Parts: sequence; C-alpha cells; structure tokens
Amino acid sequence: PSFYHECRSEGEDDEPESDSAKARLDAILNRKWSFNQEAAEEARKDMRQYFNPYDVITMTSDDVATGRLRRFYLSKKLSVNLVPPGLHRLLPKKLLFRNQHYKKCSLVGNSGVLRNSSCGSQIDSSDFVVRCNFATLKGYEKDVGTHTDVVTFNPSIIEKYNKLSTKADGARFAGDLKNYRERYVLWVPVFNRQYVTVALRTLLDFFDKHLGFIKNVQLAFPGNVLPDISDYWASKGVDEERISTGLLMYNMASALCDEIHMYGFYPFPEFNGKPIPYHYDHAPDRVGKKFDYGYKRFHELPDEFVYLKKLHRAGIVKLHVGECP
Ligand code: CTP
Repeated sequence: PSFYHECRSEGEDDEPESDSAKARLDAILNRKWSFNQEAAEEARKDMRQYFNPYDVITMTSDDVATGRLRRFYLSKKLSVNLVPPGLHRLLPKKLLFRNQHYKKCSLVGNSGVLRNSSCGSQIDSSDFVVRCNFATLKGYEKDVGTHTDVVTFNPSIIEKYNKLSTKADGARFAGDLKNYRERYVLWVPVFNRQYVTVALRTLLDFFDKHLGFIKNVQLAFPGNVLPDISDYWASKGVDEERISTGLLMYNMASALCDEIHMYGFYPFPEFNGKPIPYHYDHAPDRVGKKFDYGYKRFHELPDEFVYLKKLHRAGIVKLHVGECP
C-alpha cells in the first residue's frame, strides 16, 4: 500500500471538541507540512477512475444541444433533472481553464474558524483561489482576502435577494455580482437537487436577461458528474446524501492545481475552547445555531473533515485551521 492509502491513524474519527481529539488535531496541524507530489498524483489517478475532474468545472455548449432534453442524476438512486431551456445559451463555448496549471491554490470554505484568523494575505498570495456560495468578502478582507478566481453559487442564494422578485432586488443582485471581483467564474451547481427548482429557473432567466451587462462574470455549470463523485467519496468513507460544495471544489482543484491549501473547513461549533459561528460572516446571535440541524440534513461534514485530515497528513492538501502566521 502506498503512502496515500496508509495515512489513517487511530482515534481520528473523534470530533475535535474533546481535549484528546483537540490535542491530536493540534499535533497533525503543527507538524511540518510539505507537498507530496507523488501522493497528489496518485490521488488524482484514483479520482480519474471514477470521473474526470475537468467535468466538475463546467459543461460546454456542445454538451447540451439546443432544445433537446437531457437527463441528469443527483446520485445513482436519485434522478431526475432535465436540462432547463435557456441553459444552452449561458454555457461557455469552450472548457474553462483548459491547459492551465497552478502551483498553489487556495480553497476557502465558510467556517466561522476563519474569523480573526488573519489568513487573508496568505489566501490572496495563492495563484488560484476558489470560494464557496458567494461568501461575503467586504468587512472580512483581513481574514479571508479578496482574490477570487471561482466562486460557487447555490441557486437558493437568491433568497437573500428576495428571490429576485422586484426590479430593485435584481439591481441589487446585479450590483453585487459586478462588485464581487474584477473577473471571476461563478460556478452554479444546477443539478444538485432532485428537481429543477423555481430558484434555478429564476436564476437562469436573470442571467439570460442581464449577463450582457455583467461582463466580469463567466458562468460555469457542472455536468452529470454527481453520481460518480458520490461513489468516489463513498469509497473514502464519506457517504452522504449530497457531497458538500467544499469537497466538490477539492475535486475541481485536483484537475488544476499542485498544492491545495484549504481554509475555513472546520465544521465544529468550538475552536480553542471558544464557540464559533457556523459561517464566518454570521452575526454573533447565530453562534452555535446551525450546528443543531442545517448541514446534517444533507452532509456529514465531520466525516469529510476526517478525510481532509488524512489528505493533510499525506501532503496532498494543507489544512489551515486557526490563525495564520
Ligand atoms: N464548511 C466547513 N465548516 C463549516 C462551514 C462550511 O467545513 N462550519 C465547508 C463545507 O465544505 C462547505 C463549504 O465550507 O461545503 C462552504 O460552506 P457553506 O456555504 O456553508 O456550504 P453549505 O451551506 O453547508 O452547503 P453546500 O455544501 O451544500 O453548498
């Protein structure tokens, strides 16, 4: 067995709230980390047996013929989605980031552990930065930075914009899209629900009408890869109804990056004995709240964290938890 497969160690399944689990996490994170090219290559090869990581980035217009319906699957058991009208027009003509390779990438999850982390400048110094769910940058620059190449967008986020019900809501959304960064890819997982939601329809209609004015945004829509990705993660002991955005971004980054650094991946309500919010941009009155329900509906984030620690130990990703030096 290779280094990549050998990196399990006893007791790692505990959540890091207990003192001993915390000590173990500290020991893992404080050990000198160096990138293991060979193990990363092996991990990539393993992934390729299940799916092509480039397919996580986006479909292109060639993948969806105009006017023709195509089935999509959420998992082997759960179908079915049909391509909504209008998607074809929004898809990029060519695969994005083709032939691009980045030495150091940062994936930014949304955990409250990022608060007061001062990780912003480290994140910004990476060659390629991916963020999740249109996370707030303004006001948190010191902790999360601003450099963004890709940011994910679950269609349900339009609820924050009153479901784009009025012209003013649409204008606010368009303004936020324009001002997020100068140029970036907005990655929209269109088929991660069992049905095409009203939110998705509304979002696609909005883009169809307004994208001409929002020239700094390139849309990306992943294709029919979720069932294969779920199989891949199940083989790693992460068996959940829906793979989290954060893990999908790790899969995407594997196609494009050597070193993958992960910040804000810490699905626990306490860090260093202090309560932290679920999201770094949550108001103080939400501290601890989402941990009672929320992610448990679809995701098993603590199981994901166990696997991320393994990847860290194997030198495939570097997990950054807590303050940055
Ligand atoms: N995350 C984490 N710990 C947290 C919050 C988030 O590890 N306390 C990671 C997860 O991998 C998550 C990603 O950061 O997918 C983005 O966070 P978020 O926007 O909260 O995603 P979710 O709302 O949980 O939903 P989804 O993954 O379905 O997009």
